[in-house]
Amino acid sequence: SSKIFKEPFRPQFHFSPEKKWMNDPNGMVYYKGIYHLFYQYYPNDIIWGPMHWGHATSTDLIHWKHKKIALFPDKLGLIFSGSAVIDQNNSSKLGTKENPPMVAIFTYHNMEGEKAGKTNFQTQGLAYSLDEGDTWLKYEGNPIIGNSDLKDFRDPKVFWNTATNLWNLVLVAGDRAQFYTSKNLINWTLQSEFGKINGDHGGVWECPDIFKLKVANSNEEKWVLLVSINPGAPNGGSGTQYFIGDFDGKTFRTVQKETKWIDYGTDNYAGVTYNDAPNNRRLFIGWMSNWQYARNTPTKNWRSAMTLPRELSLEKLNNNYILKSTPVEELNKQFTTELSKDLLSLNANHTITINYDNLNQSDIKFKAYSKNLKLIFSNEAKDSLVIDYDAKQKTFSIDRRHSGIVNFEANFGKKIHKTSTSNIVSKTISYHMILDWSSIEIFLNDGIYTFTEQIFPKKAYNKLSIQSNENQEIKNIEISKIKGIWQN
Ligand code: FRU
Repeated sequence: SSKIFKEPFRPQFHFSPEKKWMNDPNGMVYYKGIYHLFYQYYPNDIIWGPMHWGHATSTDLIHWKHKKIALFPDKLGLIFSGSAVIDQNNSSKLGTKENPPMVAIFTYHNMEGEKAGKTNFQTQGLAYSLDEGDTWLKYEGNPIIGNSDLKDFRDPKVFWNTATNLWNLVLVAGDRAQFYTSKNLINWTLQSEFGKINGDHGGVWECPDIFKLKVANSNEEKWVLLVSINPGAPNGGSGTQYFIGDFDGKTFRTVQKETKWIDYGTDNYAGVTYNDAPNNRRLFIGWMSNWQYARNTPTKNWRSAMTLPRELSLEKLNNNYILKSTPVEELNKQFTTELSKDLLSLNANHTITINYDNLNQSDIKFKAYSKNLKLIFSNEAKDSLVIDYDAKQKTFSIDRRHSGIVNFEANFGKKIHKTSTSNIVSKTISYHMILDWSSIEIFLNDGIYTFTEQIFPKKAYNKLSIQSNENQEIKNIEISKIKGIWQN
């Protein structure tokens, strides 16, 4: 039986927990036609508390089924972030070859240890399921990776390395990532560290991931290392940086000097990718919030949602590797086009206004010249969300200062978020914007730049104004509406 969520700000086609608090996506693995999504969950309140792993499943990454809580805290600690794999060859001997175990490796956070002022209160634990994630057993020999003295030591991502025929694990230790190998998912050997002298260190490193991608239009392959940091993101608070380099199963190397971010908006954190996704797709989901204000957002029965699932790809532009993200194609099928026009000519200093009832649950696509362009979403409650591309300065800004309810926290509506968009070198820009009541996700030029931001409009936006101080052309504009109601 499906339940319809009608609470204010409840997203309709993004994953959110039925009730209570959620943060990071965990244990993303595809098995027997099903995408599993676990997540940091506190079942007793809508603020962060003793962590469990919640669980949901989907066959299309869009419609989710809520499942029972998968992992509960135990005497070793709370269950922090981590990942899951299918142990196909039963290397762990925790299942059988006929029924390979689903193995989760996560961080134990020991509260007593923390309170006692110890530094080694985070360790890595293992749990396994023999019924496709429905019920779980903790491994008796936990923790599988102990901790000598590292205060921040967490968020293991495990995967099978087909080049070395070994399991790999990457976790973070404060200001660096550590790479491990194993034959059986239980005994791990530390091989190398990365990061002390690389990347941004505005905050502690969290939730790493590493995977290989083909560079578009070439035979080259590169490894991508994702590292979330909090604080220190370009627009404040939490964000996810990435490194492009090489990985031989033991050591990650890069010549990258500058910091790159997977998303330049404020609300895409702790994102990681699926293990074993079909057709070699690299599928990413992030937590659509920011530790700056995650605990204060104005929702009632639940708190926070995930980003849309995104497909990652790698492109080389002017000798520069760029990790692109686009919403998964499964999403297209869920929308019906309601308004389309081949060409809208915009004269300098004029405004085109599109009236459309529910811009807050819409998918908007168009192309424009790489010239100045301003978009204003507004409603009868006098809320306005302003998106502005400045072609001369090559900056893209999002102004949510008056987008709706903003006063629940000091930073949320304080400033305009401005990003340098120097990688836009084409004559035209494609805009793709997706709104789902309390969020907007913007993909420029098929994900060369991505911006994800939460918004809390007092009423649905019903007007889109398009302006420029130059003559502009808006081509192939399409506004689509989501079909039906979503959540289970
Ligand atoms: C990231 C994070 C992780 C940790 C989890 C705890 O948002 O801080 O590093 O495992 O949240 O809920």
